[in-house]
Amino acid sequence: TDMQTALATMPKAELHLHIEGTLEPELAFEFARRNGVRLPWRTLDELRAQYRFANLQSFLDLYYALMRTLRTADDFRDLMLAYLERAARDGVMHAEIFFDPQVHVFTDHVDYDTVLDGLREGLRLGAERYGVTGALILSLVRDMDVATADRILDMAQTRSDEVIGVGLDSAEAGHPPSMFVDQFARARSLGWHAVAHAGEEGPADYIRQALDLLHAERIDHGIHILDDDELEARVIRDRIPLTCCPLSNLRLQVVGSIDDHPLPRMVHDGLVCTVNSDDPAYFGGYVAANYAALASTGMPLDMLAALAANSIEASFADDADKERMR
Ligand code: ADE
Ligand code: ZN
Repeated sequence: TDMQTALATMPKAELHLHIEGTLEPELAFEFARRNGVRLPWRTLDELRAQYRFANLQSFLDLYYALMRTLRTADDFRDLMLAYLERAARDGVMHAEIFFDPQVHVFTDHVDYDTVLDGLREGLRLGAERYGVTGALILSLVRDMDVATADRILDMAQTRSDEVIGVGLDSAEAGHPPSMFVDQFARARSLGWHAVAHAGEEGPADYIRQALDLLHAERIDHGIHILDDDELEARVIRDRIPLTCCPLSNLRLQVVGSIDDHPLPRMVHDGLVCTVNSDDPAYFGGYVAANYAALASTGMPLDMLAALAANSIEASFADDADKERMR
């Protein structure tokens, strides 16, 4: 439709995207086959029956299970290329992309250099082929032993200029930002940007901790900001961007229906919001589908265009690069 075309051609940046969350079922089966990894599902249909999630944890269980199929630098390259090709069709000019090396290294026994080599090769080829620029944010997995976060930073340190930032993801409740003060200080000392998932399933206080203790420059999700008026006023005043993911929130039952999503209210209040796909292979759509879901609730096209403009502004790209994207 005309609306879909308009949404897919708006220039935008994607700021909240887990590369492992772009692993489509077909590609997971292909990687399992070529790497000899056994999966508990025999057919694509059996696998596809697993994509109904009750909450964040039930999604994470499947996400980590399929991640086991990623073994070689070629796998990580192909995954990145598939995402960038798809993102280009949604009008993405630039993507700041999370990866979860603690899981690859300590759970799946893949070398950090293998992961980084593959992702970087994918970014290089994707920029060349599809014109989408990309950068990596190393996300710390908050429900793994904190010692593994330190060990990953040891590995990342010698190649620190190949990553632009540190993030914090995985099971939020019970794993507050306060546990990662030292790791974020260390990451920031490498010259990295800092962002953190907060206020997705966890309370508004985790957003405050991410800002005060981790010095996060953006908050990923952050929709529980609406539970704390004082904190909300501060985030509005300081223009801290929030990377919202409406279809993710819907599929993980953070909201009951897309019409109940608080994003219109957040925009109305004056928060700097952006629209992102989070884990598009799991949540039923890439970034333009997230804009389309908002359009279906009656959000006007000028507000959707303002959200796309916010995504470019809120990116870590330099001013010349932002100008190229607009
Ligand atoms: N890892 C991948 N997607 C995530 C999400 N939405 N929240 C927390 N951790 C994640
Ligand atoms: Zn996320």
